[in-house]
Amino acid sequence: MEKTVAAKKTETMMEKIVSLTKQRGFVYPSSEIYGGFAATYDFGPLGFLLKKNIERVWRRWNVESREDMVEIEGAIFMHPKVWEASGHISGFSDLLVEDLVTHKRYRADHLIEEAKIMENAGALSPEEVNKIIEEHKLKSPDGNALSAAKKFNLLVKTHLGPVEDESTVAYLKGESCQNIYLDWKSVLETTRRKLPFGIAQIGKAFRNEITVKNFMFRTREFEQMDVQYFCRPEEADMWYEYWKKNRHDFYMKAMGFSADHIRWRQHEADERAFYAKDAWDVEFLFSDMGFKEIEGIHHRGDYDLTQHQKFSGTDLSYFDEKTSQRFLPYIVECSGGFNRLFLATLFEFYREDGERKFLAFPPRLAPYKAAVFPLLANKPQLVEKAKAVYEMLRAAADGRDGFMIAWDDRGNIGKRYYAQDEIGTPFCITVDFDTLGEGEGDAATANKDTVTVRDRDTGTQERVAIEKLGEFLHGKIYR
Ligand code: GAP
Repeated sequence: MEKTVAAKKTETMMEKIVSLTKQRGFVYPSSEIYGGFAATYDFGPLGFLLKKNIERVWRRWNVESREDMVEIEGAIFMHPKVWEASGHISGFSDLLVEDLVTHKRYRADHLIEEAKIMENAGALSPEEVNKIIEEHKLKSPDGNALSAAKKFNLLVKTHLGPVEDESTVAYLKGESCQNIYLDWKSVLETTRRKLPFGIAQIGKAFRNEITVKNFMFRTREFEQMDVQYFCRPEEADMWYEYWKKNRHDFYMKAMGFSADHIRWRQHEADERAFYAKDAWDVEFLFSDMGFKEIEGIHHRGDYDLTQHQKFSGTDLSYFDEKTSQRFLPYIVECSGGFNRLFLATLFEFYREDGERKFLAFPPRLAPYKAAVFPLLANKPQLVEKAKAVYEMLRAAADGRDGFMIAWDDRGNIGKRYYAQDEIGTPFCITVDFDTLGEGEGDAATANKDTVTVRDRDTGTQERVAIEKLGEFLHGKIYR
């Protein structure tokens, strides 16, 4: 009888990443037991470790290695006037169109871009969108007629306190950076800084996105990793160029991304956010999804401090002792999306080698730096010795953040290697009979108290003395 073989659908890279991250505990859909909740995600144990390592690399590059930077952590709720002053209440919107039959709502620019009518349709006015819908007979993804475009504000609104009326309206941060502008004068005074200097922050942002898609790429809750650099107005163009180069170096040198996976895109004048004098996006090549924005570098001028000074009535100016002049500094902003960087990191380091899948994270990013195994789980002497090595290495963390060591004694050694490769553990350490001094021939004495260390990327193994293991790993991870 003839067998029919169902054509196997080729998985997209995004599907592979989604499935690996869920199976191995990097990311779980939020509220999954209730059927999930659109585009909200929890970081599982491995995702949490990867997140902390990415943050550590970012902080080391942007804050700890520089003398002109400090970091803050601001509250999510701020005075509602902040969002009036910042322009978000009046200007932070996308154009929405509705399917007239299903009443599903879509971002007009996305439908226009997906229909290949034009690229970067984000700057179109409602009138221009309506004209395009008419001229191109643009329909919804379900094939139905679309409504006229209307503006949809992205701020997430809530009420704080026991009364729900206009007086208790509050907003969740639409962009994380606003605390930095409000705190700038306090930071200046309390840290006795002089221009130029920067304030960094990793903080939550919330946007009531009309459509959420591509896993963690566009979500309604996310984190932003911001550098806001305060400088003299006449030096702002120079600092803008400096930060563009610095951010490119960050992705190459600190994150270890390939040069051909990162590119720049300058915003057209009509596409820029309302606060920006100039804007460039750092784009990452998300495999089959193409290049997509992961960070925005914005020349914000004195827009933010001018607005907050006006709306709050508080003097936010800088007094230059040398020239006895008072002025509002200009701000160069580097605002990266954490979720997008997390996703880009998974795309960048995902590898397939026949059946073997692995995450080739640089050791500084890997959730676990090494895994320790007894060669055979049913030999108590091997297990005992391996446990001692495991405990020793955990102690060798010696105050180093993120020096996590895994233990595995399930299944055969090949399966354990495979499982560690999949989660990106760079080194697997095996305690075998040679370690116990029970090897054959010369190895019995030569290899006593040594272990094999297998390299994830090359599969090669070397013998390392147990007493040198901590040093060996530190050298590989923190070099
Ligand atoms: N303070 C400047 C600002 O918010 P933005 O270009 O709107 O600028 C900066 O956002 C970064 O935040 C983007 O480059 C992107 O990485 C990330 N981001 C923005 N909206 C997002 C969303 N809905 N989901 C995930 N990340 C988002």
